[in-house]
Amino acid sequence: MELLDGKKVSNQIKEEIATEVVKIKERGEKVPHLAAVLVGNDGASLTYVGSKVRSCKKIGFESTLIQMPSTTSELELLRKIDELNQDNDIDGFIVQLPLPDQIDTQKVIMAIDPDKDVDGFHPTNFGKMALDMSTFIPATPFGILELLERYKVDTKGKHTVVIGRSHIVGRPMSILMSRKGWPGNSTVTLTHSHTQNIEQIVSQADIVISALGVPNFLKAEMVKEGAVVIDVGITRVPDDSRERGYYITGDVDFENVSKKASFITPVPGGVGPMTIAMLLKNTLLARERHRSRG
Ligand code: GUN
Repeated sequence: MELLDGKKVSNQIKEEIATEVVKIKERGEKVPHLAAVLVGNDGASLTYVGSKVRSCKKIGFESTLIQMPSTTSELELLRKIDELNQDNDIDGFIVQLPLPDQIDTQKVIMAIDPDKDVDGFHPTNFGKMALDMSTFIPATPFGILELLERYKVDTKGKHTVVIGRSHIVGRPMSILMSRKGWPGNSTVTLTHSHTQNIEQIVSQADIVISALGVPNFLKAEMVKEGAVVIDVGITRVPDDSRERGYYITGDVDFENVSKKASFITPVPGGVGPMTIAMLLKNTLLARERHRSRG
């Protein structure tokens, strides 16, 4: 078994980007600027956005965190997005999901300028991704592709089973793994809450990508010997014995599944850090787009 070490690879990617930033500065140009909008005070979202902003600082990007109260109206958020769209200093921005119930997420995503949509969630960017055109690929699927590539995992002709059909991970992942090229050229099965015989389908997979958010869902009995296992789940399990009051766990019973897997991602330290690194990569790309648009 080989560990797909997202922490190590994400640090390499961040170093590569930091080197680019040094060159940008040497040329006397403006460094990339990422803004993040956080509505409300969900603990996990606060942690993720905090990490994204801190990573920007570490590699030399500018960053802006915009915190809005949980009572923010849809109109107020749409106005903020319009402001960010118009702000020439900002190359790219994200609106952290999920949003409070009074806000229509689709309306919000549609309002983001596709050239600043470093999450790759806007239909223009999602459509381009599905058509193999150059665009922002959503950071989590992008991070998984990067891990598979850097560890030279063979995906051609393999059966990839994706668990979960979210717009952020499962759906784009299923498209990307089936596209021509590498990583890709897989035969993909996208499973979800209405899938029958899910255990049987997963047991046939050469590559399993679990993005369910159910701790210990994927057990050793469900996994084929030699399978590649990617765990996208990040669940906070309450635990009073820990200082933080919780621990983080994935969808995979790591201890037992790792005995059968050829490659496996740990949680934490697998897909999570890759998501942040790829958001930074998208921000670098956004800066280039921004400059060429003038
Ligand atoms: N919530 C969970 N993952 C993500 C992500 O990648 N981007 C945004 N904007 N919100 C998220």
